[in-house]
Amino acid sequence: MPALINPSILSADFANLERDLRSIATADYAHVDVMDNHFVPNLTLGLPVFERLVQVSPVPVDGHLMIADPDRWAPAYAEAGAASVTFHAEAAQAPVRLARELRRLGARAGLALRPATPVEPFLDLLGEVDMILVMTVEPGFGGQSFIEGTLPKIRRVRQAVSAAGLDVHVQVDGGVSRETIERAAEAGANVFVAGSAVFGADDVPAEIAVLREMASA
Ligand code: DX5
Ligand code: ZN
Repeated sequence: MPALINPSILSADFANLERDLRSIATADYAHVDVMDNHFVPNLTLGLPVFERLVQVSPVPVDGHLMIADPDRWAPAYAEAGAASVTFHAEAAQAPVRLARELRRLGARAGLALRPATPVEPFLDLLGEVDMILVMTVEPGFGGQSFIEGTLPKIRRVRQAVSAAGLDVHVQVDGGVSRETIERAAEAGANVFVAGSAVFGADDVPAEIAVLREMASA
């Protein structure tokens, strides 16, 4: 399975987002983190900025909504043209209804799990989503270290997806770098979000290529 590399613009220069998006034109998606200061203790950007990022991005946008009440707010991100909209299981009231709504609006639907959130309650619902995001750090900030204890969950998600014969992506986000990407890939992830590892590199396109190569090996 080809590895997808989605750089997180949380580690980009917020005064130069269009310029920094151009630097990741060889990536698969641009990962845009929306934080609301309620679901996580950090605030990034909302719908008006997100909409413009979708318009200027050279690659499709993978929206990661770390927000309270996604049932109410997430559909607008699909309407804004995001290729994929991921909301948190811990925040959603009716995840299946919301995933169906996102798909109806033309986006891929993603379900995100914080490190301590078990995947088991969702395993029978995998057919309702296009992606499971296993958070490999507590959401909220870039530059944290990868939580090794999430690897068994990545493995269980991949096994369930394979057993069901579904084409559901398994995404990892947080602390993904040259040091950790192979273990995440070996556990079954196929979509890799990397913020500081990509934007902290001297040569951004080269780093994307290295990560893709390591994850595909
Ligand atoms: C964290 C965000 C991540 C973040 C990852 O809550 O969801 O997308 O940008 O940053 P790194 O790759 O630096 O851990
Ligand atoms: Zn993210």
